[in-house]
Amino acid sequence: MAGRWKNDLNWSDVTPKSAWLNRRQIMAGAGALALGGIAGPALANLGAKPSRYSTVEEPNTLEHITTYNNFYEFGTGKDDPAQNAHRLTTDGWEVEVGGLVDKPGTWTMDDILKGTTLEERIYRLRCVEGWSMIIPWVGFELSDLLNRVGVQSGAKYVAFETALRPDEMTGVSSRVLDWPYVEGLRLDEAMNPLTILATGLYDEPIPNQNGAPIRLVVPWKYGFKSIKSIVRITLTDDEPPTSWNKTQPREYGFYSNVNPSVDHPRWSQATERRIGGGLRARRIPTLMFNGYGAEVAELYDGMDLAKHF
Ligand code: MTE
Repeated sequence: MAGRWKNDLNWSDVTPKSAWLNRRQIMAGAGALALGGIAGPALANLGAKPSRYSTVEEPNTLEHITTYNNFYEFGTGKDDPAQNAHRLTTDGWEVEVGGLVDKPGTWTMDDILKGTTLEERIYRLRCVEGWSMIIPWVGFELSDLLNRVGVQSGAKYVAFETALRPDEMTGVSSRVLDWPYVEGLRLDEAMNPLTILATGLYDEPIPNQNGAPIRLVVPWKYGFKSIKSIVRITLTDDEPPTSWNKTQPREYGFYSNVNPSVDHPRWSQATERRIGGGLRARRIPTLMFNGYGAEVAELYDGMDLAKHF
């Protein structure tokens, strides 16, 4: 986004599709493993339940999803996170949940996952840079966790923060953003059933470059709202600061709903390039709220979405 946005092609765009590990192969591998095991992708098999919120569109390959990333803490190149994010230590991860809640505290991943039912959510991801993917996340609704901690009546927003580990995060020595990466949602957006915390991908634990061990996924907003590797969640009464808005307030608003009729000041948002389509593929039309209007349009009734972009 800060300069590299035009230059977002990498090797996978020019690799023949047949060379990629596709979803069907993975699923066949999973079935075979369940039947006694053959050589194949090492699936931890999280056993996630399917969901009515999933799109039926064909997901991108695991290869695409894990090699074409934005995770600036590990560098600004699309392939930097795949190269560098293995340094992130996720053992013993803790998430502090606080602010306007009845039960503030620090949660281990075990605490978080105990008592939740993991679901597979196959969502469209539309990056503000103009590319998109279909990603089979595994996770649970953020509202589950918020209900467990008890949101107090004064809370209006939810603030999120990514880990900041200069020893492990090779990209934070560059001041491209003001670290740590922070994001936020209005409380009703956070409580919407489409908003999930993802801990898996393709029925495996989520890879580091995709935001291990726990990241937000808000499918009707530009991808930068979906903050990775979360260590803090805070309920507030004030709109929290958000990383891209702090850096370029004219270009990135707090809401950042996918909206084909509100252009980025430097490029159109009317169309998008689906990763994996190949170099000659046509751009496809971008959908209002990334196609999730039936579930979320009412959150913005009466709001001017060009003003509250
Ligand atoms: N979270 C953190 N902490 N740092 C980042 O640089 N990039 C965002 C978002 N979450 C980012 C982040 C952007 S711009 C996008 S498009 C998505 O992550 C990309 O998610 P993916 O790499 O899993 O597809």
